[in-house]
This record gives sequence, C-alpha cells and structure tokens, in this order.
Amino acid sequence: MRKQIAAANWKMNLTYQQGAELLKTILSADISLNENQIALFAVPFPYLELANDTVHQKKNYYAAAQNCSDKKSGAYTGEISAEMLKSLDVPYCLVGHSERREYFGETNEILSGKVAICLTYGLTPVFCCGEALKIRDQNAQNSFVEQQLRESLFHLSAEQILNVVIAYEPIWAIGTGKTASTAQAQEMHAFIRSVLQKQFGKEVAGQISILYGGSVKANNAKELFACPDVDGGLVGGASLVASDFMEIIRALK
Ligand code: PGA
Repeated sequence: MRKQIAAANWKMNLTYQQGAELLKTILSADISLNENQIALFAVPFPYLELANDTVHQKKNYYAAAQNCSDKKSGAYTGEISAEMLKSLDVPYCLVGHSERREYFGETNEILSGKVAICLTYGLTPVFCCGEALKIRDQNAQNSFVEQQLRESLFHLSAEQILNVVIAYEPIWAIGTGKTASTAQAQEMHAFIRSVLQKQFGKEVAGQISILYGGSVKANNAKELFACPDVDGGLVGGASLVASDFMEIIRALK
C-alpha cells in the first residue's frame, strides 16, 4: 500500500523560536502514525537540524527541505546542495514548488536536474506540479501537468520513480482559500497516475504517493484525503497552526 503523507510547508514563515514551539506542540501531541502514514515538516534551511532533532523520537515523522540546488557543489553563493542536506540526515526535499517556478525561474529542465541530484544523494524529492488559473480556464490542465511530469520525471527509471513523491498543487488554490473540489482533485490525481502508468507500468504507478496541495485546511482534509488517488496533502497556511496541522495529520487514510 502506498504511503499517506501529511506534509507541512512553512515557506518563509516563523522565527526559530516560533518554529521550535510549533514543532514541540505538534510532536508532543498523542498522534501515532501507522506503518503507511508519514508526517513531514518542510522547514526553512536554518531550522532543519532542529526539526530533525525534534522529530527523531517519533515514528514516521520527518524533516524536509523546501528546495535544493541542481548543482553538485562549487561557486554558487547562497545555494544549498543535496549532498549538504544528506549530510544533515534530511530525508526529504520539496522540488519545484510553484513559488520557486514563478519567482525563481525554475523550469521543468532545471527541476529534472534537482530531482536527479536528490535521488543521487538518497533524498526523496517531493515533486510539485500544477496549473495556473489561466490554464484551467482553457481546460488545458491535463496536458500542462503531463508536460511537467514528462520533462522533469521521465528520465528516471521505474526503480527511481518509486522514490519520488508527487504533489499536485493547482496554483489557483494555493494560499487563496479556494480549494479544488474533491472531484477536481480526484480527477487530476487519477490522470497523473495514468500518465505515470503509461511510462512506468501499473504496478509502479500504483505505489507512488500523490499529495494534493492548495488551501488544505483542518475542515476539508478528511474529505480530500478520502479520494482514492489522493494520498495526503502538502499544506502551507494551515501547517503554521499547531491544532490545524494536527487535525490534518489525523485526517490521513
Ligand atoms: P496553502 O499552500 O496550503 O497555504 O494553500 C500550499 C502550498 O503552497 O504548498
């Protein structure tokens, strides 16, 4: 059975002290995860060690980076490499969040390099995809997302793709309070799985976790996660509130 994942994406929010408090509150709550459930905390780089130390004691809770460089090492001032993350024992890394694509010019090609370098160093990339409102209005979301997957993931082998998590995040739903309907989410997730199936085979596609992101809240998580092809969520705003994110973890299948 594929993993069900509740992933917090703090983005560029919270001071170190606020982050420490938030993690402490969530981790001290009595939410035990079963074999198939995972809680992730994608925190700012300077907090990774703290997050790793805090989640250490609890089963299936992990820290994640929000980004990494597509370069191995060298003269790239301000960048963070996959190898550095691995040396801190960080197991997961978000790749290609729409904010990275939009504000930092990350293309499908650059992201294919980031996915590859994460896998080289044994990090699990959480690869984000999703369309803007303009594309959805033209009903072109399927071909758009398929191209993102093709150009960033299809260089992988079936064995490698099994170590990738996918997050579908329609840009029009991120931070807007406008969540995709369960029908819209399920439809796109099933489509993504069908694209993966064509490339990597049915058995492999059936094992890949596909998270939904975009205004996941404590009051809609259960309904979204109940969709057969939705394997949890990538959560921004609601992950900054301990009680909300705890509720979202509890909503995992
Ligand atoms: P949101 O963000 O939950 O605030 O919509 C989701 C994300 O960008 O990962």
